Amino acid sequence: MILLDGKLVSSFYKKKLAEEVKEMKARGERAPHLCAILVGEDPASETYVASKVKNCAEVGFDSTLIRLDNSVSEAELISRIESVNINSSIDGIIVQLPLPAHISVQRVTESVSPAKDVDGFHPLNIGRMVQNLPSFLPATPLGILLMLEHYKIETAGKHCVVVGRSNIVGTPASILLARNSSPGNCTVTLCHSRTKNLKSITSNADIIIAAIGKPRYITADMVKEGAIVMDVGINRIQSSETKSGWKLVGDVDFEPVSEKCSMITPVPGGLGLMTIIGLLQNTLKAAKKEVQPVL
Ligand code: GUN
Repeated sequence: MILLDGKLVSSFYKKKLAEEVKEMKARGERAPHLCAILVGEDPASETYVASKVKNCAEVGFDSTLIRLDNSVSEAELISRIESVNINSSIDGIIVQLPLPAHISVQRVTESVSPAKDVDGFHPLNIGRMVQNLPSFLPATPLGILLMLEHYKIETAGKHCVVVGRSNIVGTPASILLARNSSPGNCTVTLCHSRTKNLKSITSNADIIIAAIGKPRYITADMVKEGAIVMDVGINRIQSSETKSGWKLVGDVDFEPVSEKCSMITPVPGGLGLMTIIGLLQNTLKAAKKEVQPVL
């Protein structure tokens, strides 16, 4: 069994990004600049945003963190986004999800300039992705593609089963893996909470993408011998093994599944780290004006 090592692969990509930033600065250009907007104090979101800011610094990007109170109105949030949209010193914007219930994720997502939408969540970028046009790809699916590419995993003609249909991961991952591209050209089955006989489908998969958001949901009996297992889940569960009383596990029951599959991403240390690489790559692309979707 080969461990698909997010630490190793993400540090490889971070070195490449840092070199590119050095060259930009040597040419007298400014560094790419990411603006993250965090609403409220959700502990998981705090951790993710802190990690994004830290990783920006590691590769030489500038970053700005805008923190807003949980009670901020949707209109105020959108007005803050609009001022970042027109700020020419900022290349990329992310609004960390989830948002408080009184704010429409859809309206907020659509208020981000598509040219600065480094999360790739704007409908224009999603539409362009579906049509294989230059766009910002959502960071986690992009991280999955980079991991497959780095390990030179052949995907053409393979049966890829995606478990979970979220807008952020499952749906875009299913589209990207089916595209006529490399990695891609998979025969994709998208499974979700209403899928019948999930086990009979996953048992046929050459590649499983687990993105259902349920701890250790994919068990060994659901996995074919020699399959490739990519685990997107980041679930906090109670644990007597740690001082804090909790630990992180994926959507895959790691130990038993790892005995059966040929390759697997660990949690932590797998695709979470690759998601950040996806975001950094998109921010660099935005700074270089490589994607200019116009409404
Ligand atoms: N919440 C969970 N994943 C993500 C992500 O990729 N981007 C943003 N903005 N919020 C998230």
